[in-house]
Amino acid sequence: MKKPIVAPSILSADFSNVAAAVADIDAAGAEWVHLDVMDGKFVPNLTFGPKLVKDIRDKSAGVFDVHLMTYQPEQFIDSFAQAGADYITFHAEAVVHGHRLLAGIRGLGKKAGISVVPSTPVSSIEPLLPFVDLTLVMTVNPGFGGQELIPECLEKVQKLVEIREQRGFRFLISVDGGINEATARMVREAGVDVMVTGSAFFNAPDKSSLVARLKGS
Ligand code: DX5
Ligand code: ZN
Repeated sequence: MKKPIVAPSILSADFSNVAAAVADIDAAGAEWVHLDVMDGKFVPNLTFGPKLVKDIRDKSAGVFDVHLMTYQPEQFIDSFAQAGADYITFHAEAVVHGHRLLAGIRGLGKKAGISVVPSTPVSSIEPLLPFVDLTLVMTVNPGFGGQELIPECLEKVQKLVEIREQRGFRFLISVDGGINEATARMVREAGVDVMVTGSAFFNAPDKSSLVARLKGS
């Protein structure tokens, strides 16, 4: 089995030194930087906007994976694309015209992702799967780092793996929330391509060895 990509979320980093956080991500051998954008409405928390992403873009060689937990994500696509996002993912629950938005993200030359919260089934995004580069399965209710993974959500990963195989799609499957050394094995076994990790990564004294263990090395 191919080893999953590890995508540490700077949500759990020290916001007074985000440049050091992205340097730690690169140094630990994690390939992606996960950027959690919260609007205080779609989720009960606030984080940061495109300015921060732009300011750290040249501090990292990693793939920038922007996760928009906002209503009206269409308002923010252009500015995050310009700030240096590689992937821009929005929530299925936050939009009516998901197909239009996916096409808009790809039209800016970026990879387009769609995410579902724990209470949303895969069937609700099935019509969009031909048009996505990434699916992001939330394994916690989004808004905060450090929560416990809800194992039932991993059934959605298996479902996405099946659909992808049956229909010949190529999107990546990412999982976000509660991933740590204790849960990594079941997440890997579900068949994920990308593991987001916030608190486990930033609390780890030896980040390189954590990344290796999450990957199953
Ligand atoms: C939750 C965010 C996650 C979060 C994961 O709303 O989308 O990316 O940072 O953090 P942990 O790994 O601590 O659950
Ligand atoms: Zn996230």
